[in-house]
Amino acid sequence: MAKSSHSFVCQSCGAHSVKWSGHCDACDSWNTIIEEKLEAPASGAKGSGLPRGRVAKLVDLQGESAAPPRILSGIAELDRVTGGGFVPGSAVLIGGDPGIGKSTLLLQALAALGNKGERVIYVTGEEAIAQVRLRAARLGLADAPVLLAAETNVSDIIATLNEGDVPSVVVIDSVQTVWSPAVEAAPGTVSQLKAGSDALVRYAKSKGTCVLLVGHVTKDGQIAGPKVIEHLVDTVLYFEGDRGHQFRILRAVKNRFGPTDEIGVFEMGDGGLAEVTNPSRLFMGQTERPAPGTAVFAGIEGTRPLLVEVQALVSPSSLGTPRRTAVGWDTTRLNMILAVLEARAGVALGQHDVYLNVAGGLRLKEPAADLAVAAALLSSLSDTIIPHGTVLFGEIALSGAIRPVGQTEPRLKEALKLGLGHAVIADMGDKPPKTGIDAKQVSTVADLVAWVASRSKGLRRIA
Ligand code: TYD
Ligand code: MG
Repeated sequence: MAKSSHSFVCQSCGAHSVKWSGHCDACDSWNTIIEEKLEAPASGAKGSGLPRGRVAKLVDLQGESAAPPRILSGIAELDRVTGGGFVPGSAVLIGGDPGIGKSTLLLQALAALGNKGERVIYVTGEEAIAQVRLRAARLGLADAPVLLAAETNVSDIIATLNEGDVPSVVVIDSVQTVWSPAVEAAPGTVSQLKAGSDALVRYAKSKGTCVLLVGHVTKDGQIAGPKVIEHLVDTVLYFEGDRGHQFRILRAVKNRFGPTDEIGVFEMGDGGLAEVTNPSRLFMGQTERPAPGTAVFAGIEGTRPLLVEVQALVSPSSLGTPRRTAVGWDTTRLNMILAVLEARAGVALGQHDVYLNVAGGLRLKEPAADLAVAAALLSSLSDTIIPHGTVLFGEIALSGAIRPVGQTEPRLKEALKLGLGHAVIADMGDKPPKTGIDAKQVSTVADLVAWVASRSKGLRRIA
């Protein structure tokens, strides 16, 4: 007999507690804990009552295993992020803020797959069939062979999928609307989300269908977030972007069949999402008119080099505690660079407000961007223009040393490809890069300050 009990579950991280509280200690979020009814396992599955198991065959690590086959959508930026196409029998979670374009991207992907002869099904739980049709018409995809169903009960969804030929790709939009009749909790709660996703993942594995689950990221915890099912699926993709910008980035954060940290770049327009094949051009901003406070960083996103413009504004502060704001970059790391510039190169920034922005709405995570950030700060402070056509990269240590970073040559080659002929990089010792770029090597932040000061017309002194 299954016994049910009550538990309090955080809708953001899925942590259980014995009593209600306004604050979740596990993930530090507020007002996310609600009471859920839980099904206890049947008494037969406990302790000594375990049924007798079957012996599994133990094998060596070595052995022949074929690479998984792939279902290519033909949308190159999407196929790049999935590591070369969707894998049959896998479950993929696509998370993102509401309105970012998940439904649009997946409808476009299904239409592309349908046109290639795959049997594809789009199950909508959020929108009515008419709304999905309207979007398809707007995207010019009304003729694409995509099968539609509006359904939220997971048993009905699986029964529908079991009718006719096995589909190769199925989209569930969104997994938070799916509910299982076997669980008593309300739709959108952690228990329902887990039960629904679990059934769909099991369907994917048993039929060899690739199931794409859409998950909304919510800040207020009204519905359970996609984080709680990340471990259930094979691949986790996040669709990010700033609604003010038309650029959208699809990022792989977990992939059992390919690399993570790979990104795909799209542009949202009237005709839906278009691929951006040369993202460096996009994130470089208005480099035709160089201005003080901008520096170009040569980064690596996944396997691809990417040039990004870093913008800084340093201005005298009227506040007791000056403002430190960073968009697209970690504020803690910004504070660290400011402290290193002050302590190791004597650049006094304690009385200045500092604003930092990464162009195009991109979020930079590489410490390699330190050098470009420091250069942009110094450039703004001294009203000096970093010469047009210069890229910078290198990690700044607390000692003030500038450390070389990996993949120097692909970064420099990307700069050359886009017509940038100069670079400022960490001292590479006796192994200078073999590309034809004019590379200035700096070994400490003091060297960087001297390099910027040498370009300054003396309008403002740095140190
Ligand atoms: P949608 O795919 O519905 O987002 P999600 O499923 O992530 O909630 O996208 C919604 C936004 O995209 C909406 O604000 C309108 C915009 N959009 C366009 O700009 N162009 C288009 O062709 C389409 C279909 C949507
Ligand atoms: Mg949607």
